[in-house]
Amino acid sequence: MSNNTIIEVKNVNKSFGKKDNVTKVLNDASFSVERGEFVSLMGASGSGKSTLLYLIGGLDREFEGSISLAGEEINRMKEKKLSKFRLDKIGFVFQFYNLVQNLNVEDNILLPLTVKGKKKSELKKELDEILRLTGLTEKRKAMPSQLSGGQQQRVAIARAILGNPEIILADEATGNLDSVSGTEIMELFKKLNDEKGITILQVTHSEKCASYSSRIVKIENGHIA
Ligand SMILES: Nc1ncnc2c1ncn2[C@@H]1O[C@H](COP(=O)(O)OP(=O)(O)O)[C@@H](O)[C@H]1O
Ligand SMILES: [Mg+2]
Repeated sequence: MSNNTIIEVKNVNKSFGKKDNVTKVLNDASFSVERGEFVSLMGASGSGKSTLLYLIGGLDREFEGSISLAGEEINRMKEKKLSKFRLDKIGFVFQFYNLVQNLNVEDNILLPLTVKGKKKSELKKELDEILRLTGLTEKRKAMPSQLSGGQQQRVAIARAILGNPEIILADEATGNLDSVSGTEIMELFKKLNDEKGITILQVTHSEKCASYSSRIVKIENGHIA
């Protein structure tokens, strides 16, 4: 592992179920991502992509093998430390935007940090910058129901990057979008990668989306090809 490795997955095995009903989903999976890379994880449906992303993000801790983020093994961290680590270092983006319907754009973006106890006034400058980056300045007071799918996904991305994470983990972020909005999201990822140096690991089915990344990692039946 080099000093610049930000994600390291080593010999990871993961199964679901018990006893005579066990599904082995990840099979000795190993790969790593260097700081500043934009990597696409691709593979057939059911090959284990989402499972792997959840493990990397510390959302599921039940697995064998080791996963390190920025040199720290997440499987050795206490739950409390892992939660903080996750909040500080990782931004998640999912296929469904998971916005709170009765909060406007800026309150949705601020939600994770206000929950963490920060005041809205402290975050004003950062919020303005993120609204600019994601092209949402004009929509800051809009409600989610007034936005297109692509705009809602940009709100979800803005929310994911507000805490200045080092890594974005995205699971089929464009899976629910038409191709024009999908392209917008990929251009935004590219910009965040280029301008803010955020490392991005995205799961995608689309060759077109993958073409925005700097490298493709393929997974087949739970094993990195
Ligand atoms: N919570 C779960 N319980 C049981 N099986 C699961 C669970 N989550 C995923 N699986 C199984 O693991 C396999 C891989 O799923 P997933 O990681 O979602 O694949 P992908 O994202 O590549 O489509 C699938 O066969 C799926 O049915
Ligand atoms: Mg999936």
